[in-house]
Amino acid sequence: GSGSGGAGSTDGASGDVITVGFAQTGSESGWRSANTESMKEAFSAENGFDLVFNAADNKPEAQIAAVRNFINQGVDAIVLAPIVSDGWDDVLKEAKDAGIPVILEDRTVSAPDDLYESWVGLDFEKEGETAGKWVADNYGKQPTNLVVLEGTTGSSAATDRATGFNSAIEGSQIKVLDSQTGNFTRADGKTVMEGFLQKYGSEINVLFAQNDDMGLGALDAIKAAGLTPGQDIKIVTIDAVKDGMTALADGEFNYIVECNPLLGDQVAQVVKDVLAGKTVDKQYIVEDQAFDQEQAKAVLDSRPY
Ligand code: AHR
Repeated sequence: GSGSGGAGSTDGASGDVITVGFAQTGSESGWRSANTESMKEAFSAENGFDLVFNAADNKPEAQIAAVRNFINQGVDAIVLAPIVSDGWDDVLKEAKDAGIPVILEDRTVSAPDDLYESWVGLDFEKEGETAGKWVADNYGKQPTNLVVLEGTTGSSAATDRATGFNSAIEGSQIKVLDSQTGNFTRADGKTVMEGFLQKYGSEINVLFAQNDDMGLGALDAIKAAGLTPGQDIKIVTIDAVKDGMTALADGEFNYIVECNPLLGDQVAQVVKDVLAGKTVDKQYIVEDQAFDQEQAKAVLDSRPY
C-alpha cells in the first residue's frame, strides 16, 4: 500500500490498501462539491483505499501536472475528471508505460481509448438534447429569443450539451441571440448575464444555462434588471443540485435536467476490478432524470445533495 506497490502492483487483488490519485477539476459548482464528496466517501480508508486528492482549480496545465505527480509517486491507479477533453495523450501514455491504470470519471477525453481503462459518467449530449427538446416544445412554436451560458470551454460537458441542445431546437422558432462561457460558476454566470441584459434587455425570453450554478448567478442579474426570473425570462438548466431544485420549486427556474454527481461507488468498484485483473466495460453511463416545477416540489425534500 501507500504507493510502495508502484507500477504493476497487485495491491487490488491482494487485499492491501489501494493508493489512488484522484485528479478533480476544481470546486466550481455545487455539482462538483457533491461529486468530490461522493468520491471521498467511496475511496475511504474503510473501503481499503488511500486517496491522494488533487483539485486543479480548473487549470488544465495544473491538472496534467497533478497526474504526472501521481505517476511519479507510483500510485496503484489514477482517477481523472478531465477539465478539458484535449491535451491528454502524452501524460496518459506515460501512465500506461508506468503500468498505472487510468479510470475517467465525469467527463471524457479526446485521446485514443486504449490509453485509459474505463469511463464512468453521464450522457452530456442527451442532457443537452432533453433541455433543448423541452425548450422547443414549450417556447419554440412562436418566435422566441434565447441566450446561453456555456460551461468550461473545451470540456466535454459543455461541448456535448451544446451539440444535443442545438440539434433539439433545430427547426423550432427559437433564435439563439448569444452564447458565452460562464465557466460553470455562479460569479461568471452573473457577470455574463449582466452583459446579455445590457446588450439585449427585454428582448431575451429564455436562458439556457449549462449548469445550475450559472443559472443561480444569472438570477441576481435578472432581478437587478427589474425582471422576474421564471416569468419574464424563462430559465432552463442542468444538474439538479439542491439550490437549483429549490429555485425550480420556487418558480424562478422553469426546467432542470439532472446530471448525477454520485459516481463514487461505481468508480471505486471499477478501480478494484481493474486492479484485480477483471474485465471492465469501456464505459458506464449513469442515468439522468429531468424535472419541471411541480416535479421539483414533489422531490425536493428527498434529494440527497
Ligand atoms: O462535468 C459536469 C459538470 O461540471 C456539471 O454539470 C457542472 O456543474 C460541473 O461543474
